[in-house]
Amino acid sequence: MHANLNVMKFFIDTANLAQIKEANDLGILDGVTTNPSLMAKEGIKGQDAILKHYVDICNIVDGDVSAEVISTDFEGMITEGEKLASLHENIVVKIPMIKDGIKAIKYLSSKGIRTNCTLVFSAGQAILAAKAGATYISPFIGRLDDISYDGIQLIAEISQIFAVQGYQTQILAASIRNPVHIIKSAQVGAHVITSPLSAILALLNHPLTDKGLAQFLEDHAKANG
Ligand code: G3P
Repeated sequence: MHANLNVMKFFIDTANLAQIKEANDLGILDGVTTNPSLMAKEGIKGQDAILKHYVDICNIVDGDVSAEVISTDFEGMITEGEKLASLHENIVVKIPMIKDGIKAIKYLSSKGIRTNCTLVFSAGQAILAAKAGATYISPFIGRLDDISYDGIQLIAEISQIFAVQGYQTQILAASIRNPVHIIKSAQVGAHVITSPLSAILALLNHPLTDKGLAQFLEDHAKANG
């Protein structure tokens, strides 16, 4: 299943299989993003184990799965990117926003391999990655907020530029820390959010929902003995 481009997609930002399954079971999951830190957090190490883990993720979720290269030179990135892309049709190759990364995005997209340009922190970087043909760009909202810049403002700025220019590149709001980041990303035009499970589940919560449901059940029990 691939979501309508006009409806903001939900990706989960983890390499934890149990959390990926839990989010997938909710029925609202459109994909997964990983990065080397998230893979290391799950104790996945060694090339064979890393590649197998990406396949395991692809076997859980019917949607795009971002797998990040480790190389920082053009040749290394395209060799890794082609290998990652050959693992499964849903793999999107995650490439860092550096000079050779832009060249690699251009090359891989010319070969029909989809890319996600990661570590985007400015509108200028977003424009370059879109021009190179990135499928997704990942601005890191939370890490900008951490240093007193407005991460959501960056999503809004990129959203406006992409709309004016007609870029097909999708804005994937990353480094999400809380449910308000998800709501605001939707408000300012992100095409996708990638979030920890905790922030997705936090969208469910409202005290008046809990109070109201308890009252409904209590009234039903009273009326029905
Ligand atoms: O996967 C990239 C991004 O979402 C990382 O988030 O929380 O490490 O800033 P964070």
